[in-house]
Amino acid sequence: MDRTKSLRRQMAAPPLRGPDSYGIAAEMARISVAAAFMLVGMAGRGAGIFENNCRACHGQSASGGVGPKVAKNPILKQQDLFWETVLHGRGPMPAWSTVLSEQDIADIHAWLLTR
Ligand code: HEC
Repeated sequence: MDRTKSLRRQMAAPPLRGPDSYGIAAEMARISVAAAFMLVGMAGRGAGIFENNCRACHGQSASGGVGPKVAKNPILKQQDLFWETVLHGRGPMPAWSTVLSEQDIADIHAWLLTR
């Protein structure tokens, strides 16, 4: 009886709010980016995914267009910045976290390293 009551109280508890919940969200984003590093990208697959989603702005062979040149861009070696930019976007650069899987992004990254 006591246990049921305590479970009910837990289920009725309001979601965390305030600075604490932002801390948790940031931590979860960090873990997700860290997990993405563990993926092995397949360059062959990444070529087609880049073609369909990124080429319009970043140009043929990622050599630049509306968006900056990504081939040989130092950001390719700064994995945290690369993932942050692609997952969540930056300025006019759209976010891809709801469009592409982390495997898709790892594949694009692997292909970009071959440019
Ligand atoms: C609608 C146009 C557009 C599309 C589509 C697009 N980007 Fe971008 N991207 C940009 C712009 C513009 C920037 C520069 C953002 C800024 O002002 O910092 C950018 C920046 C970047 C950067 C950071 C470059 C740097 O030097 O800091 C990376 C990496 C990147 N894009 C990768 C991608 C990938 C991968 C895709 C496809 C999944 C993609 N972009 C699709 C427009 C686009």
